[in-house]
Amino acid sequence: MLNTKVIECIPMNLYLSAKFLVLLQVTSHNEFIKTNREDIRLYLKREDLIHPYISGNKYRKLKYNIKEALTQNCESLLTFGGAYSNHIAAVAYAGSINGLKTIGVIRGDELAAEIPNNPTLTFAQQHGMQFKFLSRSSYRNKMSNTFLEELNNQFNNFYLIPEGGTNALAVKGCEEILTDNDSQFDFICCSVGTGGTLSGLINASKSHQRILGFPALNGDFLNNDIRKFVSTSNWKILNEYNFGGYAKINHELVNFINGFKREHDILLDPIYTSKMMFGVLDLINNNYFSKGARILAIHTGGIQGVDGMNLKLKRKNWPLILKQ
Ligand SMILES: Cc1ncc(COP(=O)(O)O)c(C=O)c1O
Repeated sequence: MLNTKVIECIPMNLYLSAKFLVLLQVTSHNEFIKTNREDIRLYLKREDLIHPYISGNKYRKLKYNIKEALTQNCESLLTFGGAYSNHIAAVAYAGSINGLKTIGVIRGDELAAEIPNNPTLTFAQQHGMQFKFLSRSSYRNKMSNTFLEELNNQFNNFYLIPEGGTNALAVKGCEEILTDNDSQFDFICCSVGTGGTLSGLINASKSHQRILGFPALNGDFLNNDIRKFVSTSNWKILNEYNFGGYAKINHELVNFINGFKREHDILLDPIYTSKMMFGVLDLINNNYFSKGARILAIHTGGIQGVDGMNLKLKRKNWPLILKQ
């Protein structure tokens, strides 16, 4: 699972030092991606290389939340997620290096018996996360007062992080993805789940920039959710590249991920960044962007999800996502 390139970029002792998540100021570089349009300049911001386990937007979303949990002297972080959630894996690891216990409320009570067969849950458990499994119907009511009261009775002094990690502090962290140097770009493109990352990018953008969101799911609700965090209108949600919904994949997307890896030596995750990148390249091919446009796409990480997806692909006897 370790990405060797990451280890080259930042000394390993920084990864291992306690509470580095709060202390370390990270930056990521932009990598040129050659396309078949000579006039278009496409770059990929390698947020995936920030950290092997708390990669991409996970680092950005957790940074100020963990700082707040420590300020409030909370004992643990409690959060929510599905079977292969990048957020669950990242919270488990971030808690473990910041001296906080972690509790994961997981969608699907059948998963309780499946931990050894699930790379994400195994990883989270190995890093100390305690699970509470819920049926899908109970999970839908996870933010009801009754259920939150039940959690308060069961677990002590926890700091609650919403599903997907999005709240005002997460958006604040995501505002740090863009640097002054990135103001040269005309378009910023990013995958969208809950909209927290896109909101941060919108808030940090300049008025001449357009921010394009590529939902990884059927995201009709997203415009309203994003409006809660932003006040400008220089952004747009493009719903055409979700491949049928959350964690839905087909042969075309697997082939795209493997082709992109071969051509650029960059692994995209199957849930988020591959759909975004597929969309960006499709828009370039269909002349969506004007001549000479400078585009910055954000690699928000999520590579831990490849193993889980490959297990599903193997069961279907489909081609696998190639990691090397
Ligand atoms: C790898 C990756 N990219 C993008 C997203 C979407 O981020 P957001 O939920 O902030 O829209 C997620 C989900 O958090 C993710 O795990």
